[in-house]
Formats: sequence, structure tokens, C-alpha cells
Amino acid sequence: MTTRLTILGGGAMGTACAMLLAEQTHQQVSIWVRNQDQAVEIQSTRENRRFLPGCKLNDNIFITSDINVAIHNCDYVVLAIPCQFLRQSLQLVRNSLPESVPVISVIKGVENGTFQRPSQIVTDILGPRSVAILSGPSHAEEFAHRLPATVVASSEDLELACRVQQMFSTERFRIYTNADTLGVEYAGALKNVIAIACGICDGLGFGDNAKSALMTRGLVEMQRFGVYFGGNPMTFTGLAGMGDLITTCVSPYGRNRKVGFRLGSGESISDILHSMEGVAEGVATSKSVAEIALRHHLDLPIMQQVYEVLFCGKTPQKATMALLERPPRS
Ligand code: 13P
Repeated sequence: MTTRLTILGGGAMGTACAMLLAEQTHQQVSIWVRNQDQAVEIQSTRENRRFLPGCKLNDNIFITSDINVAIHNCDYVVLAIPCQFLRQSLQLVRNSLPESVPVISVIKGVENGTFQRPSQIVTDILGPRSVAILSGPSHAEEFAHRLPATVVASSEDLELACRVQQMFSTERFRIYTNADTLGVEYAGALKNVIAIACGICDGLGFGDNAKSALMTRGLVEMQRFGVYFGGNPMTFTGLAGMGDLITTCVSPYGRNRKVGFRLGSGESISDILHSMEGVAEGVATSKSVAEIALRHHLDLPIMQQVYEVLFCGKTPQKATMALLERPPRS
């Protein structure tokens, strides 16, 4: 029996997920791409030249800019839209997507203003339904080139987590299940903020010792935040936490690391954001996290400094001094 999957979002991640899902020939995949010209180009050339150049799309992938055509009769929806645009995209299908259709999110962010995680935005707009999260070290550029990767499928509905595991698994893509959706979502969102810090460190030429310190203490902050809100500490030392943190902080593909690198090299945040392809989720997430931390008195010094560099005009050098000059801790 054919399973029909719809991906909302035609960036690198949405396209790479489609390619992975379409490897199983009984799975039919539609991608909704907001921009009509881009949708037509991808559908006719069978390649997403803007976000995933050089990767040919299988024949069982169909691309459209009509969201209602994309979701028509689908069995599952996969969300690959930047977190800050998720709410407005879901509004487009709130009356047409049946309650029985489960949603799988590959989004890593926390919404500004509401502080909601992607799965919360889904139920806020679409009403209660089964939601799963797919997260972990998974640069789209790598798994689209069929390189091995391992991630987690997380859902309160364990049966859905197992179905997601089956749908996405290939001989090179291994998936574990995890019931801690809150921890998995926060881990994926927060590692982007730490990746910006690591990029700044690279841009300033501070070397590997400083970067390892940022990753290690960054992981402590991620775990402190997640556990405060009820996440499982183990989630943060697993694939969705430490695993994704490592890949995002070291990879040359990492968009968040690149933002940080350019900041550390002296560029302004507005120049960087205007000239970059794709969205670095850590920028907006750092704002949500700083506001949440203030409200709940959470001590997150690295993430706070990233926020101040991005939104308060602090220089990377001053942010570094602010971290190093903190009172000694045991
Ligand atoms: P970037 O958005 O920084 O490229 O990170 C991608 C990612 O989440 C890898 O798992």
C-alpha cells in the first residue's frame, strides 16, 4: 500500500527528507514550496539548485506551491519550515488538514513572543493530534549525499515514533526512538545558540581549547534549561543533544556556526542576515531563550552573551571578556 507524505518547506532539510522518504518506493512524497517559480523550477529540473545543488530528486517526489494540493489525501505531514514562520504556514491548512493526519516536525527553534516549541505551535493551530519530532545530528547536505547518519524519533505516541522510525530508515539512516519530546525539541533548538557562540570563537581565532570549553559548558546550559522545564537529562547527552551540538558546532555546512564565524570576523549581524542563504534558527531562538531565562531566573551565561551580541550590539570581544571575567565557580 502506498503511503503519501507531504513535506511543508522546500529548503535543504525539507528536500533532503523528501529524498530519504522517496527511497522507499511505496512512499509517495509531495513538497510544498512557498515560492511558485521555485516550485516550478524544482519540479521541472528535478533538482533544488538553490538549497541542495547536485542532488537529483526521485520520480516519486512531486513539488507544488499550492499547499492544499500538497496535503490532499496525505497520510503524514512533515514540517520543515523555519520556526518563526511555522504558525503562519499552518494557518493555511488549519481547516483542511484532517485531525487524523499525524505531523512530524524536523524544526529546531523556539518561537519569539509565545516561547512555544514547534510541536506546541502545531497543536495550538491545528488542534490536538499525534506529533513526532525527528532530531539529531543531521545536516541535510550530508544525508542528501547518502552519507550515514543517526537521529531520534520522539513522540508521546510511541506507536507513531515507531512508524516514523520505519518510514525514514534506510541502510544508511539509523533511527532511535525517545519519548522525551520536550527535551528533544529544546536540545535541537538550544544547540543552535551554542553553535553561534562556537562560530564566533572560530571567527576570533580562539582555537580548539576555547571552542571545546564553549561546547561543554554550552551543553551544561542546554541541559539546565531543558531539565528545568521537565526534560530528561539523558536526552541532552544523547544524539538530540550532544550529538547535534557537535555536528552543528564543527561542520562547515552549519548555518548557525557560519553566522557566528562572520560575527567573530567583524561583520555586522544585519549584513550577515541579508546576505545568507537559508535561516539560522539560533538567531531568533537566542532571543526567546534570553527572555525565558530572565523570567525563570535561569543562569545561561553563554546563551546570554550570544543574545547580547546579536540583539544588543555587544562586540564579540566584550562578550568573551564578560564570560571570562565571571566570578570563579566550583
Ligand atoms: P544549522 O542550521 O546550523 O546548519 O544546523 C543544522 C542542524 O541542525 C544539523 O543537525
